[in-house]
Amino acid sequence: SDGMNAQDLGKILHREPAEIVKKLFMLGVMVNQNQSLDKDTIEILAADYGIGAEEKIEENISDIDTLYDQEMENTEHLENRPPVVTIMGHVDHGKTTLLDHLRHSHITAGEAGGITQAIGAYQVRHSDNVITFLDTPGHAAFTEMRARGANVTDITILVVAADDGVMPQTIEAINHAKAAGTPIIVAVNKVDKPDANPAHVTEQLAEYGLIPEDWGGDTIFVNISAKFGENIDELLDMIVLQSEMMELKANPDQAAVGSVIEARLDQGKGSVATLLVQQGTMHVGDPIVVGHTFGRVRTMTNERGRDLKKATPSTPVEITGLNEVPEAGDHFVVFPDEKSARAAGEARAKEAQMEERRKTNHVTLDNLFDSL
Ligand code: GTP
Ligand code: MG
Repeated sequence: SDGMNAQDLGKILHREPAEIVKKLFMLGVMVNQNQSLDKDTIEILAADYGIGAEEKIEENISDIDTLYDQEMENTEHLENRPPVVTIMGHVDHGKTTLLDHLRHSHITAGEAGGITQAIGAYQVRHSDNVITFLDTPGHAAFTEMRARGANVTDITILVVAADDGVMPQTIEAINHAKAAGTPIIVAVNKVDKPDANPAHVTEQLAEYGLIPEDWGGDTIFVNISAKFGENIDELLDMIVLQSEMMELKANPDQAAVGSVIEARLDQGKGSVATLLVQQGTMHVGDPIVVGHTFGRVRTMTNERGRDLKKATPSTPVEITGLNEVPEAGDHFVVFPDEKSARAAGEARAKEAQMEERRKTNHVTLDNLFDSL
């Protein structure tokens, strides 16, 4: 054939040929519907419909995730960092009771008043150690976060009620932890109850490879009562012990990178995101790219709503100042200046838009030329 004309292009792009001709006219190309078009013209037109820029934009996208990966693997100036702990377990086995107990009795810096804000992550102090807890995300959210490449948890606390034993979501939690490669500490809960049978729980868990040390295995088991605060200090001791064996380290002397724990739109504050700093130190005023959005860290607060000037590795913070609301599991990277953050952020936003167009058009530059 003579090549492609406005009619052919219209069919592929699901547009009226007249619209194509008009668009070409606006681009300075005068043709009728049947005149064949050269390759350059098609490319310019395609770009106008958002086709063909994919490669360039995909480079940008991987730049952010590559940057995150690179920074996460940085081995310079490593210092100890607190462990990041997630509590999982079957419905009603006592996860919230345990978290609430920790919130009120073990708040950081020994300040009174407890946690005033509902935030998805917070730190507790245990003797000289700090431990970061993530509020149990629903199992679905956990799976999604992992699917998005966010492995933020170092240690999983598996809560099993001693009067109920191993249940379906107990097994699900074990599988999540195994898939994420995090060690499990078993908290056998509700041991205060008359019908509690911790030995039975141990027997059941052995079937899943979770065997306590005094049975010849290497899994830490702690009997607790979340409701009455019994043995919680022992549980925290075990978390510290486990984290010391893991030698968790990060470099605080670099620009911050990390992951989104949760985010929402607030009527007054705009986009509010809970971020976990995983490497480096974050400061108020930092230009930042988060998932498909970007901005500047306008305010940074901890779980008690207290303003922070900086946040070191394993610190969860709530920030404002982002253009849009990112998604849980998105990575963030702090940039040296606002201009480059904006460029990277806009490229990512454009990519999302392209993706949307690609879905509706099913056309790429390649298959456009293939059909010539
Ligand atoms: P979901 O969020 O629904 O999955 O449940 P959960 O795992 O958060 O359980 P939650 O902390 O809400 O506890 C469920 C019930 O068990 C509540 O009535 C608690 O008071 C009770 N409970 C939790 N821990 C203990 C405990 O150590 N002893 C006793 N006797 N009751 C407990
Ligand atoms: Mg709960």
